[in-house]
Amino acid sequence: MSLFVKKSISGLLAQAGADSGNGLKKTLGAGSLVALGIGAIIGAGLFVRTALAAGEHAGPAVTISFIIAAVGCAFAGLCYAEFASIIPIAGSAYTYAYATMGEIIAWIIGWSLILEYALGAATVSISWSEYANKLLGGAIPYEWCHSPFEKAADAAGVLHHGLINLPALVILLLLSLLLIKGTQESATVNAIIVFIKVAIVLVFIAIGWQYVNPSNHTPYLIPDNAPDALKPDNTYYSYKGFFDHGWGGVLRGAAVVFFAFIGFDAVSTAAQEAKNPKRDMPIGILGSLVVCTILYVLFSWVLTGVAPYTDFIKSGKEASVSYAIETYMHNYHWLSLLVTIAILAGFSSVILVMLMGQSRVFYTMSTDGLLPKVFSDLHPKFRTPYKSNMLLFIFVGLFAAFVPGDVTGDLTSIGTLFAFVLVCIGVIILRKKEPNLVRPFKTPLVPLVPILGIVVCTAMIVSLSEKTLVSAGVWMLAGLVIYFTYSKSRSKIGSAIDSLPNAKDFG
Ligand code: ALA
Repeated sequence: MSLFVKKSISGLLAQAGADSGNGLKKTLGAGSLVALGIGAIIGAGLFVRTALAAGEHAGPAVTISFIIAAVGCAFAGLCYAEFASIIPIAGSAYTYAYATMGEIIAWIIGWSLILEYALGAATVSISWSEYANKLLGGAIPYEWCHSPFEKAADAAGVLHHGLINLPALVILLLLSLLLIKGTQESATVNAIIVFIKVAIVLVFIAIGWQYVNPSNHTPYLIPDNAPDALKPDNTYYSYKGFFDHGWGGVLRGAAVVFFAFIGFDAVSTAAQEAKNPKRDMPIGILGSLVVCTILYVLFSWVLTGVAPYTDFIKSGKEASVSYAIETYMHNYHWLSLLVTIAILAGFSSVILVMLMGQSRVFYTMSTDGLLPKVFSDLHPKFRTPYKSNMLLFIFVGLFAAFVPGDVTGDLTSIGTLFAFVLVCIGVIILRKKEPNLVRPFKTPLVPLVPILGIVVCTAMIVSLSEKTLVSAGVWMLAGLVIYFTYSKSRSKIGSAIDSLPNAKDFG
């Protein structure tokens, strides 16, 4: 059987038609799609990783990092929009690849999407734990809310080592149970959370603006002779590395804050529910990107203006926004409290969408035969993939409990960037192979835009740390072993084609 066996586009469209007959209502207009995108986008990337990228790599120029990451996302987003308008069906990039590049590439994308959605959920739950502990006034001892790979000294200079991140596990369990119950965020609930998140970001920008200290923005890029900064464990952080100052740092910063844009592709999974996908899908995908980019640049400009970037190495790394408010914006304790509550609500919706996205991708891969049937078994009453949700909780929970958030965050970014690169390649291939296909939305300037998407996303991939690249490589190898030992022989499309008389003509 060919590794490159493909799903037919006409088959997928027929499936989409059949599914919408089953009751998926076309209720989402352009506004709701933009809100859906923002709901899935604004989260730990903005509220946690901005400080991480500024502190360790880009300094105040993290604003430029946001713009670079946004440009990469916009190119990829234009490619997603074309696919989402042609193949409005669940499975997103995995499904697009199955139709254009064949099964093995689809598998690789599906395997990368696990990094995006499952580890994305783990990362945001770790940030949730940080802010929850902040809200509780630090009542949870360090050991019980950090991974064993983290350590920090307390005010008395006593060094503490993490054991397990329990609050992260609790929020993951609660949200997994909610998903099993089938309680979906309605457009209204999502809109309320989006309203709160955006309002808080705007209030922080407006009030924080008055506290911006111009000396924190000078020099704008981290200089190559920047002094080492003190870390929480009382060792020093050096800015000497190529990716830790200057333009190299801005690029690594882009790869770090790229995480803040992840989720706009979730809009593409709602294509079947869009009232007018031809017009509204591109507006939903690109509109949410534009709104978030503007907010991100303003937010990061204010954050790095209020607090010097080196603070984010020492004490401001966790719960950076409330840290900046409490340390530099006196009399605004109420704002810090409000920000923390809004951020917790916002994180919860991001985790929910990520866990849901992951179970949808698993569901589609399982119905294709590439994953065991357990991932598409539905609960008899709730009609949700409950076994998949529970297995996912265990898998995501292991990462959330025992791995630091910056490690899971970088793995999330690399998995997503890789999927973006393959979607960009897919657009070029489909234009060549199926030039006459009806394309309600066309990516402009093909192949230029997809090629630029490939270039910018690849640049961000290679600027991630070596540790992340190696870990992602090991993850992909494990995926290939599973594909060749399990999935390939069980693939439904592959088996159907193998049983045809002229099987070798396909693929
Ligand atoms: N973009 C999402 C976040 O920043 C994943 O939390």
